[in-house]
Amino acid sequence: MINLTNKVAVVTGGNSGIGYASAKELAAQGAKVIITGRNKASVEKAAGELGVTGIVSDQGSLEQIDNLVAQVKEKFGKVDVLFLNAGVANFSPVETATESHYDTIMDLNVKGVYFTVQKFIPILNDGASVIFNTSVNAVLGMPDSGVYSASKAAIISLNRVLARELSPRQIRVNAVSPGPVATPLYGKIGLSEEEVNGFGTVLGQRILLKRFGKPEEIANVVRFLASDDASFITGTEITVDGGLTVNAVIY
Ligand SMILES: NC(=O)c1ccc[n+]([C@@H]2O[C@H](COP(=O)([O-])OP(=O)(O)OC[C@H]3O[C@@H](n4cnc5c(N)ncnc54)[C@H](OP(=O)(O)O)[C@@H]3O)[C@@H](O)[C@H]2O)c1
Repeated sequence: MINLTNKVAVVTGGNSGIGYASAKELAAQGAKVIITGRNKASVEKAAGELGVTGIVSDQGSLEQIDNLVAQVKEKFGKVDVLFLNAGVANFSPVETATESHYDTIMDLNVKGVYFTVQKFIPILNDGASVIFNTSVNAVLGMPDSGVYSASKAAIISLNRVLARELSPRQIRVNAVSPGPVATPLYGKIGLSEEEVNGFGTVLGQRILLKRFGKPEEIANVVRFLASDDASFITGTEITVDGGLTVNAVIY
């Protein structure tokens, strides 16, 4: 039975979408939850709604990551669950992608995640659970997703390496790999509403269960990986995509 009473759980990007739903679920299981985000107003609003602690911290700044870890250490001591969820998705064809497009995604989704987990390692409890939020894009050839997909593939590799490195401390390291989930992310990817709707219709048809996922359906897996119910699971990735990635046959 899942019970996270008195566990300390950090959810990066917890003011919106999958992070918000996961923070809510972890708190419902009794965890003391800390959410982060870069937008002060939305972090404070979400923290108030969820009854959790909100800390403004931009994953693109190593200084702010240091500050986040220091604040968590001072207020909570050690961490039992670290959900590295914050990320951005911008799309562009490889042929026309700019350096800034590349740097924005890689700085946040790879460098920011890498240094966040690195800086939390000293304050993780032995037996802690680290969970990365990756994406099925890492294994799909979806047009225009080149940098985003590469950023998530990098984290899947990091997931395996870190599972090995932290195993002497019984720290489990896993990834949840969502397919399309209905969150505010789709309004931020640089496509018009019409394009997003068209994209959503095509994707919806490819998903075996014929719908987008809900943030709560990813949160359920995060809750499982965070708990002792997943006590023999490390170094793996759980795909939560309604069957999108197995739907390779056209007819
Ligand atoms: N939705 C999907 O279909 C889907 C599928 C696969 C994977 N994912 C992954 O799921 C994660 C969450 O996405 P979502 O769909 O829930 O989107 P979302 O609602 O847009 O949430 C993204 C979160 O990341 C935070 N964030 C972005 N840049 C940040 C930065 N520099 N520093 C700190 N926080 C930052 C945002 O905070 P602010 O609002 O303060 O910027 C927000 O809380 C991402 O890693 C995404 O790649 C999503």
